[in-house]
Amino acid sequence: MAAPRVLVFDSGVGGLSVAACIHQALPGVELVYLADNAGFPYGGQSEQVVISRCCDLIAECLDQFPCEVVVVACNTASTVVLPHLRAITEVPVVGVVPAVKPAAACSVNRRIGLLATPATVKRPYLDELIAEFAADCEVVRIGHPGLVDWAEQLVQGSEPPQAEIDQAMLPLRTAAVDTVVLGCTHYPLLLPWLRKSLPEVEAWVESGEAIARRVGHLLEHGGRLIEAETPGAGADPAVIQACFTGAAPSDISAFMMEMGIAVAQVAGHWPGVTAAGSA
Ligand code: DGL
Repeated sequence: MAAPRVLVFDSGVGGLSVAACIHQALPGVELVYLADNAGFPYGGQSEQVVISRCCDLIAECLDQFPCEVVVVACNTASTVVLPHLRAITEVPVVGVVPAVKPAAACSVNRRIGLLATPATVKRPYLDELIAEFAADCEVVRIGHPGLVDWAEQLVQGSEPPQAEIDQAMLPLRTAAVDTVVLGCTHYPLLLPWLRKSLPEVEAWVESGEAIARRVGHLLEHGGRLIEAETPGAGADPAVIQACFTGAAPSDISAFMMEMGIAVAQVAGHWPGVTAAGSA
C-alpha cells in the first residue's frame, strides 16, 4: 500500500516547522509542501485575498498531488480560510490556531505573551480564544511585522537582528510573562533569538506537535495510519515535492535537510510553466 500523503501549506517557510513535527511523529507519511511566497506576507493581506489565494492554490495542488489530509500551517490563513476550504474539498482540513489554551494551562504567574502576525493579533477569533481559555490571564499581544521576514531570511543564512528582536520583545519583558505563545508558524524558527531576548520565560508554546497528533488521528480514522515507526525510519525523503508560487529560495533544499525534512523535488513559480524538479 502506498504511503499516506499530507499537504502542508503556508505563505512561506514557516509551515516547515509544522512539517518537521509531522515527520517526527509520523515518519512513514509522505509530505507535499506548498508555499504561497508570491503572496507573502499574509499578515499584510486582506482577508479576501488570503481566502481566494489559499482556496485556489490548495485545490490546484490537490489535483496534481492527491493527499489524504490538508494542513493549513499558517495561523493568519487559518483564522479566516478554514470554512471556505472545507466547502470546496472533501479532503479533511486541519488548521493551526494560536495555542492560547495550552499556554493558559502552563502559566504559573498568569501572565502570557502572544506573538503573531499583525493580522492575527487583530482577528476576533483571537479575542474569542483568549476569552474562552485565558480569561484569568493578562495576555500581552505583539504583532510585529519584522519577525516573519527575519524567519524567511534564515533560508539565505542571514542572522536575525538580535537588538531589534530585543526591542520588539520589550513589552513582554516589562509584563514579566512566564509563558509565550508562538502564534505564527514562522516563529519556532526564531526561537534561539527569542529565548535570548526573554531568558526568564519558562514555556514557549507552539502548535506543531498538536497538529501532528491531529493528522495522525485523521489518518488512523481513515484507515491510513501506518504502524508507529521510530523517527528516521520512514519516508525518505520526507517531502516528495515542495512548490513555491514565487521563486524557490535558493538554499531551500539544504535548509530543509537541516530541519530533518529532506526534499526530493522543488518547483518555483508553481503552478506556472516551470517544470517540476527545477527551482
Ligand atoms: N506563517 C504564517 C502564520 O502562521 C504567517 C506569515 C505571513 O504573514 O505570511 O501566521
